[in-house]
Amino acid sequence: MKKRTVAIVVLLIAAVATALLYCAMNRPPSADQNLNAQVLEILQKGGCASCHSASPELPFYANLPVAGDLVQKDVAEGYRAYDIEPLVAALSSGRDINPVDVAKVEKVALDGTMPPAKYYLVHWGSQMTAAKRNIIEQWAEAFREIYYADGVVGSEPVRPIVQSQSVDERKVALGKILYHDTRLSSDNTVSCATCHDLATGGVDNKQYSEGVDGQKGGVNAPTTYNAVYNFVQFWDGRAATLADQAAGPPLNPVEMASTSFDEIIEKLAADKALTKEFEAVYADGWSQANITNAIEEFERTLITPNSPFDKYLLGDDNAITAQAKQGYELFKEWGCATCHAGVNLGGETYELMGLRRHYFEDRGMALTEEDNGRFKQTQQERDRHRFKTPGLRNVALTWPYYHDGTRQTLEEAVNDMARYQCDVDPTVEQTADVVEFLRSLTGEYEGKPLTNSNQQ
Ligand code: HEC
Ligand code: HEC
Ligand code: HEC
Repeated sequence: MKKRTVAIVVLLIAAVATALLYCAMNRPPSADQNLNAQVLEILQKGGCASCHSASPELPFYANLPVAGDLVQKDVAEGYRAYDIEPLVAALSSGRDINPVDVAKVEKVALDGTMPPAKYYLVHWGSQMTAAKRNIIEQWAEAFREIYYADGVVGSEPVRPIVQSQSVDERKVALGKILYHDTRLSSDNTVSCATCHDLATGGVDNKQYSEGVDGQKGGVNAPTTYNAVYNFVQFWDGRAATLADQAAGPPLNPVEMASTSFDEIIEKLAADKALTKEFEAVYADGWSQANITNAIEEFERTLITPNSPFDKYLLGDDNAITAQAKQGYELFKEWGCATCHAGVNLGGETYELMGLRRHYFEDRGMALTEEDNGRFKQTQQERDRHRFKTPGLRNVALTWPYYHDGTRQTLEEAVNDMARYQCDVDPTVEQTADVVEFLRSLTGEYEGKPLTNSNQQ
């Protein structure tokens, strides 16, 4: 044989061997393991945690001058965008998995964006192959079927609201009275309903709410409808439960401005009829714990099922317009549904405002204490400008938008979300489609479609 032929044969063998080795290293996890274990293996082999955790084990070349800079930058940007540690911990320990993690990992797997090419070309075995993608898809579907058990066919990231919550009706009745009771405020002028009016979408439609003496706070009031679905309460998550939350406003100097629960209880105890009713349910009578417990129980009933979109999810194909369907597709395609997932389309994680572009720089208004978001509670730099993702149920009724209440219309809010969170510049038609989808999320309360009496 000629030298040249030998060289070609050797090269061919080397190429085939390389390809075989590459395929072998990229083979999907064994189907004998359960889906959680298979996904864990995909994430581990994919090097996801090297760019998406607080203490990544940096590859050896991280300290080399040029390549090193690149890696540090990837790690910093990756961790800023997404922290995968909670998911890895849940998958390894059998603990509860957050549906937002499922939505995020599913999305990058389907899009084929993670791990990035520059990573898998160097780290053999890490590439997201079609076989691995299939496993992640199956895992997401199986997770949702069990987690929601709501009868929805298919693997939708957005899920319908249940018909009712199991509650103690007697506590609900008392909570409803207290929610509307101005005696919780220092001068008997302000109740929870002043800022969370159930006839106006559970909000006041003001940029900043007005408390006792017309004092203004520095952050927009979210709705109390479906707040029960939030994993924590407030934009910065400082209340763990609805009852914890309800203890805040009565003593907040710019909201209800009472000086203590004793002051409130003195007024309530003077009401003999209400006290009798209250003691029939709470044997130990008036206390902060019992008052907030009743309010929480009432808020658990503030759910809004039967929106046109929920009917569509449950199989009624005519419940929403073709435009709304198109809007929902964009909502998934752009990745809106990776943060606004689940029953409340949000309320399950803290997310960065301005993930893809500089929201606060562009806003043209000085930074406020409230803009710090979750950072206010943790003092962790990573949490600056991170907020509990708001739910999007009944969002057509709850203007103005964002924690700073700077967006008056849904069109503006959607347009900005696309740009700042998804790096997409939508057309006017696309924005209108997504808005039409969001309008289909307006549900029913006490059997009647929710409306807002402030709406023209
Ligand atoms: C070399 C570093 C690197 C590796 C490895 C890596 N990522 Fe990423 N990831 C990034 C960076 C940088 C971003 C933010 C910019 C972007 O989205 O392109 C990101 C973004 C993400 C996001 C957020 C996307 C969004 O739009 O919200 C998710 C989710 C994600 N990665 C999951 C994964 C998973 C799952 C793996 C493993 C299969 C993985 N990543 C591997 C660097 C990495
Ligand atoms: C003066 C107006 C005002 C009053 C009165 C008021 N709130 Fe609020 N409420 C707000 C504002 C503003 C926020 C957001 C504050 C923040 O996140 O820091 C809020 C947040 C909440 C949240 C959290 C929702 C979420 O998505 O995080 C709930 C629940 C809530 N209020 C219920 C109540 C209840 C119950 C009462 C009565 C005990 C009450 N509010 C009284 C203005 C008010
Ligand atoms: C990375 C997570 C993330 C993504 C992706 C995302 N959002 Fe948001 N969304 C948020 C956060 C966080 C806020 C609250 C921002 C603030 O208050 O400053 C928000 C606020 C909103 C609001 C205002 C809600 C209110 O009550 O104030 C709307 C509407 C909205 N998003 C729709 C969308 C749409 C449509 C998309 C896709 C184009 C999208 N979001 C993508 C996290 C996200």
